Amino acid sequence: MNKEYHIAVVGASGVVGRTIIEVLEEHELPISNLQLFASARSAGKTIPFRGEDIVIEELTEESLQSPIQIAIFSAGGDTSKKYAPIAAANGVTVIDNSSAFRMDENKKLIVPEINGKILTTEDKIIANPNCSTIQSVLPIAVIHDKYSIERIVYSTYQAVSGAGQAGISDLENGTTENFQYPIVETVIPQIDVFQDNGYTKEEEKMINETHKILGDTNIGVTATCVRVPIKTSHAVSINIQTTKSFDIDEIREFLANTPGITVIDDIENNRYPLQHEAAGKDDVFVGRIRRDHSIENGLNLFVVSDNLRKGAATNSVQIAEQLIALDLV
Ligand code: A2P
Repeated sequence: MNKEYHIAVVGASGVVGRTIIEVLEEHELPISNLQLFASARSAGKTIPFRGEDIVIEELTEESLQSPIQIAIFSAGGDTSKKYAPIAAANGVTVIDNSSAFRMDENKKLIVPEINGKILTTEDKIIANPNCSTIQSVLPIAVIHDKYSIERIVYSTYQAVSGAGQAGISDLENGTTENFQYPIVETVIPQIDVFQDNGYTKEEEKMINETHKILGDTNIGVTATCVRVPIKTSHAVSINIQTTKSFDIDEIREFLANTPGITVIDDIENNRYPLQHEAAGKDDVFVGRIRRDHSIENGLNLFVVSDNLRKGAATNSVQIAEQLIALDLV
């Protein structure tokens, strides 16, 4: 008989948490029991899963232990820092959506299509990368593999749902509860806090996480991250310089044949990836594939994906699927 798994979602009432529950249902994971946790504010509320209403429980230090096998966290960095080590010590494998463990050299940062196979039974806290990073590295990994990338320039157009419920509320109500300026009136070239070097934390995440996932710190990476007034899906304009020369049609073909990527690149018919069309889908959409004639071996891509799905929920559910497929839990 096929095994079934006892799974928990921490932050179940949040924007990403609710998407995780939807993706778990759609992907038909072999789940024997699903437990949902959030703060005391949400305890007692219910969320539907496979035709049943599951009651949200308050997360406590006793919550995450056997028989729970996998806990998917999306409740912010502070909650992860406090509860993920407790869960791991209790033998529960944690998949963490926050940035708490991503750059910890003892934790793996996983995009299953790229490096899912490096997971072992030793990995008790597994980090899910930043949303913009996930959708960017998927096409970049295949290009790097084939043509060796020297330099990457990221410019992002990120949806407000990346900032959780408070971000959506600022867009819908014209408030400035979460953002520094009214997002209904402007794009904002600041995501997360500024660092001493003039970059924002979001930009540093894209730079550092790209290096870690690709396992190559020699690639020059820079980023400008911008919040835009739309609810769902991030877009990233990516400028790449490779070491080896490439054929642009070959690049288009490689990308089209990469699992998890859909190429939409038909300029004669004005077809390219659009944020509202990517919303609700799991794939990363790539278009505007063209040479950058200003440098040798230069390439431009426009990459769009649903930040709540492949950028967060779907990627973490795929990590759970990988753990199950490799029999690691
Ligand atoms: P709650 O809804 O009970 O506050 P979002 O990023 O969409 O705002 O979601 C954040 C998620 O993290 C929510 O599910 C929220 O629960 C949960 N959360 C926040 N703080 C805690 C905490 N201290 N313990 C457990 N869950 C928390």
